[in-house]
Amino acid sequence: MSLQERFDELRRRHAEAELAGGEERVRRQHTAGKKTARERLELLLDPGSFAEIDKFVVHQSHDFGMAGQRVPGDGVITGSGRIHGRPVFVFAQDFTVFGGSLSEAYARKICKVMDLAMKTGAPVIGLNDSGGARIQEGVVSLAGYADIFLRNTLASGVVPQISAVMGPCAGGAVYSPAITDFVFMVKHTSYMFVTGPDVIRAVTHETVSAEELGGAATHGATSGVAHFAADGEEECLALIRELMTFLPRNNLEDPPLRPTQDPVDRRDEALQTIVPDQPNKPYDMLDIIRAVLDDRYFFEVQAAFAPNLVVGFGRLGGRPIGIVANQPLHLAGCLDISASLKGARFVRFCDCFNIPLVTFEDVPGFLPGTAQEFGGIIKHGAKLLYAFCEATVPKLTVITRKAYGGAYCVMSSKHIRGDANFAYPTAEIAVMGPDGAVNILYRREMERAKDPAAFKEEKTREYREKFAHPYVAAERGYIDEVIEPRDTRARLVAALELTRTKRDANPPKKHGNIPL
Ligand code: HXC
Repeated sequence: MSLQERFDELRRRHAEAELAGGEERVRRQHTAGKKTARERLELLLDPGSFAEIDKFVVHQSHDFGMAGQRVPGDGVITGSGRIHGRPVFVFAQDFTVFGGSLSEAYARKICKVMDLAMKTGAPVIGLNDSGGARIQEGVVSLAGYADIFLRNTLASGVVPQISAVMGPCAGGAVYSPAITDFVFMVKHTSYMFVTGPDVIRAVTHETVSAEELGGAATHGATSGVAHFAADGEEECLALIRELMTFLPRNNLEDPPLRPTQDPVDRRDEALQTIVPDQPNKPYDMLDIIRAVLDDRYFFEVQAAFAPNLVVGFGRLGGRPIGIVANQPLHLAGCLDISASLKGARFVRFCDCFNIPLVTFEDVPGFLPGTAQEFGGIIKHGAKLLYAFCEATVPKLTVITRKAYGGAYCVMSSKHIRGDANFAYPTAEIAVMGPDGAVNILYRREMERAKDPAAFKEEKTREYREKFAHPYVAAERGYIDEVIEPRDTRARLVAALELTRTKRDANPPKKHGNIPL
């Protein structure tokens, strides 16, 4: 073979791999409103940064006529690239090749990039679009899944792992995205479920479409499996790029700084009146969050799920932070099962990756009801408590209004290692609200009173004056400082700077036993 022929051979092989499942299948992929794996990687990564590996890998299967059907790459594109200049490892499942189904060789390719990511301390981003286990390969394919699950688990808390589901993802295959830190879905073209509509119809006689059962809207709002539900693939990939700006490459790094023109001591007079006079009047906690953050920019996570607790990323003085905040607009900001799960996972993510936590608190307590109790609010609420307790990143808290009962303890209180605990003058820090307290403390007297309503009113006022403010807690040092709302940004930036060098640790152990 001449030199020229050798180069031609290489180019021919590249072209064959890039043709993937062929023009007809690519056309079908486009008709279904989906991009090919390569098109997706082009949008995800910085232009020209993708370095592919294992492009010529083929499966080794012979059964079912597979020996005659070998496509270079075997249905998954793997390699490394850059996002905003920082390295990431990627795999993109290619539905045009055997329906993106997973073979032994394909699983090895994914494992190889995951191993490289672990060795080099870089995030892994997986773009999923697959018919699941390659049926022609049987148990060998299942073994491949298990190899990936193991790596997902070992990488958890070491490098950020992000999954985008951009097509089918069913059966046991869902468990790889489920273990990763953030799951993105695309509305109308992706779905995830363990058992699909046909099996459900046969077993429980329920009729449900794939979209209703496991589409982006369902997982974004109802199950909480997905953290982001994008309107299209471009938006999905752009959101991943945006998320990456807040994350360090691994657990030994700090998250990246982004300098801002927004003055760190910017006072915001509007903050003075966001929390209303009347304790039961709702307001939008997002107004406070945005007013405080650099450039008023908040990147919300899981916005549609458990909206009574807001979580997401922002920056203060250029430093990324994770925000956890009660939202009085929904369920009066009560903590329920969904909010506890959402908050606990977010807090643990931030703690894994050195992202300081800022908590905005206005919580009347845990949501009452049999649905909550039967559903296990005790163990689920305990997860949020546990997550805040074990977190050793800087923890800053601002109590804007209610901080009642157990929820006061949970929400990053001083007692569970809050580093800087602020309260507004509107804060009410007590075992419970005045109404409930008076009902319990004065039940008998109220029954005997000539005018029970007047008696109750007087006692409620008395209780309010005694407890419905931040000063009892401030007198004990549970609150470091009662601040004017307009100074929130300056105070938080200063506290963040002060805690930049924080060192704290938990007792040595194999791992804790979070109440799962
Ligand atoms: C091999 C597969 C495949 C699979 C799809 N294909 N799934 N090949 N193994 N699992 C092939 C099809 O034969 C077809 O090949 C091409 O991919 C596109 O599939 P279509 O059916 O034409 O596409 P569409 O109509 O869009 O339907 C997509 C689909 C359907 C819903 C995913 O293909 C499907 O139901 N596939 C089987 C899903 C499944 O049961 N997988 C195993 C689940 S168990 P041609 O050559 O015609 O283009 C599992 C367990 C994981 O995954 C366990 C982990 C522990």
